[in-house]
Amino acid sequence: MRLLFILFVAFCTVSCMDFAKVAPPIHDLGVVQNVEMLELGRDLYVHGCSKCHNALRITRYSKKKWSRILPSMVKESAFNAVESEAVAAYINAVLHFEESTITSAVVAESP
Ligand code: HEC
Repeated sequence: MRLLFILFVAFCTVSCMDFAKVAPPIHDLGVVQNVEMLELGRDLYVHGCSKCHNALRITRYSKKKWSRILPSMVKESAFNAVESEAVAAYINAVLHFEESTITSAVVAESP
C-alpha cells in the first residue's frame, strides 16, 4: 500500500514537471509586467487550446512557425481580440524566456 502511494506521488511529480514544460507558469518566466494578461493567456492556452488536441509544448515551434500557426488556431478557438492577444503574449513570453536562458547559458559557458 505504501509503495503504491509512493508510486502515485512520483507519477504526479513527473507529470506536473512535464506539464510545466508544455506551458510554464508565469512565475517561472521571471516577468513582472503584464502578469495578469499573461496569466489569462496561459489559462486560455492550457484550457482553450486543448479542446481538439493536447496543449502542445510551446517551445516545439519557433517564433516564425507560431506566427503562421497561431492566427488560424485562435480562429478555431473562437477567441475574442483580448483573448487572442493574451494567448499570443503568453506564447511570446515563453519563447523569449527560452531564448534568453539559452543565450545566458552560452555566455556563462564561454571563458
Ligand atoms: C477547433 C479545434 C481546434 C482548436 C480549438 C485549436 N486547434 Fe490547434 N489544431 C487543430 C487541428 C485540426 C490541427 C491540425 C491541422 C492544422 O495544422 O491545421 C491543429 C494543429 C495545431 C498545431 C500544430 C501545427 C503544425 O503545423 O504542426 C499547433 C501548434 C496548434 N494547433 C496550436 C493551437 C493553439 C495554440 C490553440 C489555441 C489558441 C489551438 N491549437 C486550438 C484544431 C484546433
